[in-house]
Amino acid sequence: SSPQTFYDAVGGHDTFVRIVHRFYEQVADDPVLRPLYPEEDLGPAEVRLRMFLEQYWGGPQTYSQQRGHPRLRMRHAPFPIGPLERDAWLRCMKVAVDEENLEPERHRQIWEYMEMAAMSMMNKAF
Ligand code: HEM
Repeated sequence: SSPQTFYDAVGGHDTFVRIVHRFYEQVADDPVLRPLYPEEDLGPAEVRLRMFLEQYWGGPQTYSQQRGHPRLRMRHAPFPIGPLERDAWLRCMKVAVDEENLEPERHRQIWEYMEMAAMSMMNKAF
């Protein structure tokens, strides 16, 4: 049998649903992030981020089936993302991830990834 994926180890679908839902609850109230979202309904954006993270961590590959290659930097090009936006994104995500009470090593892994990913999405310097 293949080794357990990170996705399975942290509780699979339900865990990712909770993290991303909590993240978007924060986004809805965030004065920096909320205006960047073109749609009034954050629901579809929530589903896309959830599918992407599930796929990244070894869960179902539904994101790519529905959206194709992630190309996340390209998809974020329409939104100005500087240090302020990056920090706001990470602040919202930290609340969501911390509430899961993951094992320290799992927490460290996912948080390191979030910091790296948020940094790499920046497309302006200020
Ligand atoms: C889409 C903002 C970082 C993953 C979006 C959208 C916005 C946005 C405004 C469009 C909403 C929509 O899909 O309708 C930001 C900002 C970030 C950030 C301000 C600050 C750093 C990240 C990071 C990831 C990510 C780090 C991954 C770990 C996604 C995904 C989508 C998305 C998967 C949907 C792409 C698609 O399939 O169309 N983001 N994002 N974002 N974001 Fe971000």
